[in-house]
Amino acid sequence: MIVVPGPASKELGGKIAKELNAKVIGVFFKQFPDGESYVRFEGELENENVVIVQSTCPPQDSNLIRLFLLAGTAKDLGAKKVVVVVPYLAYARQDKRFLPGEAVSVNVMARVLKAIDIDGLVTVNVHEEKVLKKFDFPAKNVSAMGVLAKYFKEKGFDGAFALAPDDGALELAKEAAEVLGGGYDWLYKKRDLHTGEVETKAKKLDVAGRDVIIFDDIISTGGTIVNAAKILKEQGARRIFAACAHPLLIGNAVERILSSGVEEIVGTDSVPSMVSKVSVAPVIAKSLAEDF
Ligand code: R5P
Repeated sequence: MIVVPGPASKELGGKIAKELNAKVIGVFFKQFPDGESYVRFEGELENENVVIVQSTCPPQDSNLIRLFLLAGTAKDLGAKKVVVVVPYLAYARQDKRFLPGEAVSVNVMARVLKAIDIDGLVTVNVHEEKVLKKFDFPAKNVSAMGVLAKYFKEKGFDGAFALAPDDGALELAKEAAEVLGGGYDWLYKKRDLHTGEVETKAKKLDVAGRDVIIFDDIISTGGTIVNAAKILKEQGARRIFAACAHPLLIGNAVERILSSGVEEIVGTDSVPSMVSKVSVAPVIAKSLAEDF
């Protein structure tokens, strides 16, 4: 197996290769003055099983094109099998037509990846696992919640309470609670389809005097975490932390979250960022070793 770390996931790709004891082939990458991307594999792919690691974090559209260029070229160069590891799968959240006339973005992504002739895809905490059924090739979701919860456990937060800031994150909090052992719960959240503003409904939680970690798949503008932190503070939580698989952290998200009373934000290297303190390399490598 050959691992190719794409321009958006150089470090993570290297770590995955190390876990698998696999050879690495680099990518020469540049951007033309007009903004177009150029990629060149720096080694032979002929008759090899190739794993391309390329997150589609911001700038999503450019990183997507680079993924398409790499995956679409590997077969041209004689690769036997091409599996793409896309830790953060952009456009996966738009999985239905919420308003008339909208693009169902993930359907288009699935069709393009099929046309490129990839043999499989691995992603991390995709927003809704059921979207992977739309992909007409093996597509697998792995979870970072175990490694995130372990990070906190090792820092002495065994027994901390795991909170899902919305119903979509309930399974994530449940998974984290299996490691932390301090129970879990969730909040009801509603997002305005036009403004994007979120509203979170308070409910009685078993958090008074306790350390709480909020677990979510994505932290984007931080609004979801800020609302949850406010409810936790009102109910007397002791220390509050936020953990996510994909720290997009748009605009002043970090400042907003920290000034809402959250002590620390912990994300993974699915999206390289200042809070990417936990690596998803071991979970991805395990999945590749098992399935591809
Ligand atoms: C959506 O429901 C996701 O699970 C996250 O809760 C959401 O993307 C977070 O977005 P923001 O940080 O902008 O509230």
